[in-house]
Amino acid sequence: MSELNNIALKILSNGKGILAADESTGTMTKRLKSVNVESTKENRLLFRETLFSSESMKKCIGGVILYDETIKQNSNSKKTIPELISSSGAIPGIKVDTGAKVLAGSPEEKITEGLDGLRERLKEYYKLGARFTKWRAVYKISNDYPSKLSIYSNAHALARYSALVQENGMVPIVEPEVLMDGEHSAEECFNKTSEVIKKCYEELIKHKVDLKGTILKPNMILSGSSSKNNIDTKKIAELTLKCLKGSVPTEVPGIAFLSGGQSEKEAAKNLNSINLMNDTNFIMTYSYGRALQQSALKFWSKDINNIKGTQDTFNHRAKMCSLASQGKWSEDIEKK
Ligand code: 13P
Repeated sequence: MSELNNIALKILSNGKGILAADESTGTMTKRLKSVNVESTKENRLLFRETLFSSESMKKCIGGVILYDETIKQNSNSKKTIPELISSSGAIPGIKVDTGAKVLAGSPEEKITEGLDGLRERLKEYYKLGARFTKWRAVYKISNDYPSKLSIYSNAHALARYSALVQENGMVPIVEPEVLMDGEHSAEECFNKTSEVIKKCYEELIKHKVDLKGTILKPNMILSGSSSKNNIDTKKIAELTLKCLKGSVPTEVPGIAFLSGGQSEKEAAKNLNSINLMNDTNFIMTYSYGRALQQSALKFWSKDINNIKGTQDTFNHRAKMCSLASQGKWSEDIEKK
């Protein structure tokens, strides 16, 4: 088994998933403002360190995606943040794209940037302890979108990124996020997501990426957030599995979903349904940002020194996600 495949499996196996704590300073500021906490470097670190030193890190979190600011910070215990994460058995990771910018030629859409100077940045992150990385492409759905141009150019960038990451001894997370904003149906989400993912693998294969040493981070198949035709969790699981079976090469070891605006409970319930029906060899787990952090952030904002209470809240969420990744979640356990 290759070293990269080992890393991917260590992150995703045994009821573990990924904590996506890689919000850029701009996004983190928005999140903190929404709960009336000032977005200082110290506050951003305090919240994140509180999560990273929680008990559930050992059992439920196989990897943590960090932002550039955090990977270079020290924890209270004088360990670096990557050392703190590794001490609980989880693997530190890093977001390496520099954000989604207007796509020239289709200005309503976005292209993710960050390839210039990436090789040098990857070497630095490896030295800091990162063993996996993330790059997120975003696509919106409407009659005309995503365009062929956005599907192709984002897939090309994801492939060039993945090849560079593997060259530097790390596992790339490939994240093509088809946004849930809009009135579209689940069938439309299925069609567009399938097209997007297929193009990503076409490009990854062209760029000689070893698929066994990658992780896919896709959206689930949902109807648009403004659609009147919501589908139930069984249908979500059915369509999500059909989409992934039809578009992901079997060499890929695992799939870690983003939560993408689902509530914490929906994200756990839908992942659970997917695992109850999973008839593939792919591990199906979580790489959640909001669906792991939302209630912990709310709790913490009431008293930022209440570390224990914040950790208890996070531990519950992490446990719900871990159970869902094994098809063992239920409404009753959720309430406890
Ligand atoms: P959400 O789970 O909040 O969508 O965040 C996951 C992520 O990392 C988006 O890039």
